[in-house]
Amino acid sequence: MNKAPLEELYQRQAAVEAMGGIARVDRQHKMGKWTARERIDALLDPATFEEIGAHVQHRATLFGLENVNAPADGVVTGFGRIHDRIVYVFAQDFTVLGGSLGEMHAAKIQRVQDLALKAGVPIIGLNDSGGARIQEGVDALNGYGEIFKRNTWASGVIPQITVIMGPSAGGAVYSPALTDLIIMVKHTGQMFITGPQVIKTVTGETVSAEELGGAVAQIRRSGVAHLAAETDEQALSWVRTYLTYVPSNNMEEPPLYDIQDPLDRADVSLRNLVPQDPNKPYDVILAIAAMLDRDSFFELQKGFADNLVVGLGRIGGHSVGVVANQPRVLAGTLDINASTKLARFVRFCDAFNIPVVTLVDTPGYLPGTAQEFGGIIRHGAKVLYAYAEATVPKVTVILRKAYGGAYLAMCSRSLGADLAFAWPSAEIAVMGPDGAANIIFKDEIATAPDPDAVRKAKSVQYQERFANPYVAAQHGYIDAVIDPGETRAHVARALMSLHNKKEDRPRKRHGNIPL
Ligand code: HXC
Repeated sequence: MNKAPLEELYQRQAAVEAMGGIARVDRQHKMGKWTARERIDALLDPATFEEIGAHVQHRATLFGLENVNAPADGVVTGFGRIHDRIVYVFAQDFTVLGGSLGEMHAAKIQRVQDLALKAGVPIIGLNDSGGARIQEGVDALNGYGEIFKRNTWASGVIPQITVIMGPSAGGAVYSPALTDLIIMVKHTGQMFITGPQVIKTVTGETVSAEELGGAVAQIRRSGVAHLAAETDEQALSWVRTYLTYVPSNNMEEPPLYDIQDPLDRADVSLRNLVPQDPNKPYDVILAIAAMLDRDSFFELQKGFADNLVVGLGRIGGHSVGVVANQPRVLAGTLDINASTKLARFVRFCDAFNIPVVTLVDTPGYLPGTAQEFGGIIRHGAKVLYAYAEATVPKVTVILRKAYGGAYLAMCSRSLGADLAFAWPSAEIAVMGPDGAANIIFKDEIATAPDPDAVRKAKSVQYQERFANPYVAAQHGYIDAVIDPGETRAHVARALMSLHNKKEDRPRKRHGNIPL
């Protein structure tokens, strides 16, 4: 080969690697943001990135764009490795036309989506974009549509992960919203359908972009995002961590890690975790941590519906999804937000062959007109649907309260738990003792000379009869009442016994989950 063509290649490569030029790269750094290429380098195992589509250019001819050279058309695409497993990746480059999405930029993203799906490997999108490339009009919109379609087709087949590392506005938010995990970087990542100026014009509300769509808003208020990182570096390291729990696709098992943490490691402190007083809270995270392999809990959506905890962890090196009521917040009641958080998480686990362990302590659904008018019936039904639909191994441990519909909803045996355990402190009944006494003994209480004393006595009577695990165990709804200190060993053995579980559901086009 003569030298000139190779020189041309290296020249062209250098131009693409220079992205939007020194000034714009400097500006990106001053905003506290890494460039697309720096982000990819931090995300992947060292020196594993294979770029594809580096020479792609837009072919727009309007509004002066015909004279604009846009390296890589504003998005770096390719594949590489994370913990030695292949992933596909795209990273929007804000230094080139603001990372805006035109026809060819979109085609590059579609290309890696197609390849990831065919190869059966995760796809990771690093978003930093001014949205639809305004000069390209409907071609840009079409590009988004093609991406959304591919997101939907890939859903439940390969893990799709999004990191919001800059603006994500308008319909551009919907590709991230269709993926399994959204990590946002605080202060630089922002998501909204309509920005502050439009909101001011239409509704008169004044709100800053950060208040409206920053990481804190999208985690705490809307539940759109799952994790808020302080920096680009932290966000990218969380993607790497997350992938340690999930398989490359829905036909594979999650990765198995060699963990030196004995499965029968007892923790006697759990015997005193549930307070004597049934109305006193405690932190369910302590029960989760004691059950899982040391330091393996990776909590998701912390800050949203904290009355319910969800997250990934490991037992004996195997991935598990953990769902737990949190008695410290709203007494662990189930409300609309907790229901949607739970249902989406359980469906994610089921899609990717991750067993689900559920720790129960809930007095029931949260009462109130806000909940009823907000559709707690519709949203609460998602919980039942997700658990009953799931065919992965399901193990339930009732720690304390399991009343009424919430007892059923929290992966009861009736709903499909493969094995259900209870601590001796479990209370399994139709409703709490006070409510039950008020209804069953209504007349007796009303006509008594001291109604309060009678109510109390009847409540104690009901509690003694039902507020324990043994009635449910006698009737076979609880498989074993266990020493809390040995929860890890029991759950681990249960999961081992279910490792090759097979369960079928009737064939259908798809179910009709209440949305
Ligand atoms: C073309 C764009 C662009 C866009 C930014 N740029 N957004 N070019 N189309 N959508 C260019 C700018 O002209 C500028 O070019 C460079 O990117 C950097 O942008 P700045 O404005 O200088 O950066 P900054 O001050 O940080 O502001 C970032 C921003 C702002 C908040 C994102 O650029 C902005 O508001 N952009 C428009 C956002 C928008 O309305 N997009 C359409 C959303 S609707 P130079 O050459 O000066 O460096 C949508 C519909 C999708 O996306 C529907 C899908 C269904």
